[in-house]
Amino acid sequence: MNITLNNAPILDSAADTLLVFVGRGSLDNPTPNLVIDGINTAMNGAIAELVSGGDFTANLSDVSVLYPRGTGVAARRVVVVGLGDAADLTPDAIRRATATALQRARTLKSQQVAAAIPPELDTATTLQAMTEGALLGLYQYHGQKSSEPPVARPESLAIHLSADAMDAAQNGLTAGRAFAAGGITARTLVNLPPNYCTPAYMAEQADNIAKAHGLKCTVLERHQMEALKMGALLAVAQGSATPPRFIILEHNADKKDLAAVVLVGKGVTFDTGGYSLKTADGMVGMKADMGGGAAVIGAMQTVAMLNIPLRVIGLVPAADNMVSGNAYRPQDVVTASNGKTIEIISTDAEGRLLLADALVYAKRYDPAAVVDIATLTGAMVVALGSAASGVYATDDTVMQHLFDAGEFTQERVWRMPLYTDYNKPIESDTADMKNSAGANVRGGGAGIAAAFLKNFVEYPAWAHVDMAGKMTSDGDNTYVPKGATGYGARLLAEFVRRWAEK
Ligand code: BES
Ligand code: MN
Ligand code: ZN
Repeated sequence: MNITLNNAPILDSAADTLLVFVGRGSLDNPTPNLVIDGINTAMNGAIAELVSGGDFTANLSDVSVLYPRGTGVAARRVVVVGLGDAADLTPDAIRRATATALQRARTLKSQQVAAAIPPELDTATTLQAMTEGALLGLYQYHGQKSSEPPVARPESLAIHLSADAMDAAQNGLTAGRAFAAGGITARTLVNLPPNYCTPAYMAEQADNIAKAHGLKCTVLERHQMEALKMGALLAVAQGSATPPRFIILEHNADKKDLAAVVLVGKGVTFDTGGYSLKTADGMVGMKADMGGGAAVIGAMQTVAMLNIPLRVIGLVPAADNMVSGNAYRPQDVVTASNGKTIEIISTDAEGRLLLADALVYAKRYDPAAVVDIATLTGAMVVALGSAASGVYATDDTVMQHLFDAGEFTQERVWRMPLYTDYNKPIESDTADMKNSAGANVRGGGAGIAAAFLKNFVEYPAWAHVDMAGKMTSDGDNTYVPKGATGYGARLLAEFVRRWAEK
């Protein structure tokens, strides 16, 4: 959808649909919202009557449609959408309300929408939230259905505001476009089936994004990973006829004087569990096991579009976890690229093996901060459900920025403890460590995975985000559809943006 800014009076708009945000109290004296008041007056008080009659309560995402029929409003219809309590309005309420309103406009086959902005928050934040809500809320994945893909509708959204708010609004619009684009990139990669979204396909998409937005993209193939002695990653990859890739995206690659932030995302394009085979039901959904990698690619797109003044590197180790005559086994011992040896207990604990070699690779950038993100453990889903990701961090500043980024984007995170207790269950008799505690250890699986990863971290500021509960959604949030959420792309981009302002 094409989103534009307009400082002409909204009442004169030629759009077929007007969008009006109404918070609880927006029409009350002594501080009525002047834009709503103007539209209400032009419609002979129709909005006020909607509210006073109790037909519309202005709860968040309530929608009513009014037909002005030749009153002072040129548009054919007015979509009135609730914002909840106007007094404590949040950016996320604006995202949700915008998405709901535009979804209704789409149902009504509207082509052009004109919206009046809610005035409670600062203009840039409001525009960013509206843009994200619009673009993320109208996202549709058609997949490989043989039916005609749905028409992209509405075609345009004109956001009306006063001339003096234009500069701030333009900044918000630019940011919103960049954040939505990254989120949508991540969603589509996750939604794609595993026979389409292979490691090579992910690398190709990363390369396309790099070309479009001025990133540097380097893709390592198996022999290059062998030369780097990435024995942990290669052990996972060796069971699949589909070859692995190690994707490297760099923003400000040449500006070596800038502080470096490295983002690492698990890219398991399908997780059967390997010889520690998952159940038939447990395997369905595992096309999304590259959700961390997709988040990193999406975040890099946003970072590039916003030209954030940091050196930012995205690393995505990508591989299938399969069974075959070449597959790795329980009790194999593999050697990661930092020389540490790992006894395989479960071939289903494969994500940490990919991440191990990628975390070692991150060290070459002398990073100020490293954040990895992965659909790593079922234990994290048990701990937090789909409410948030768990974060294990060695540094309070990284943690605080991630937390704040999660609140702002509503891709929430919650801190978990990185106790040394979690090292004990993965002590090995034959190698430096085991990759899993084994079936007789019942609890703490997400913390044990984090403790494992810490063996490959040789820099002071690191956080590990376990997003296993967040990769897909049943569609209960207006702008997050059923299927892939795109979770993590906006979180990581916002983290980087905050780190740059630190
Ligand atoms: N990709 C899974 C984790 C997962 C499970 C994500 C369910 C989302 C939903 C991961 O590779 C895995 O299989 N983890 C194992 C680890 C165990 C063998 C130590 C798990 O959580 O059971
Ligand atoms: Mn697994
Ligand atoms: Zn996995």
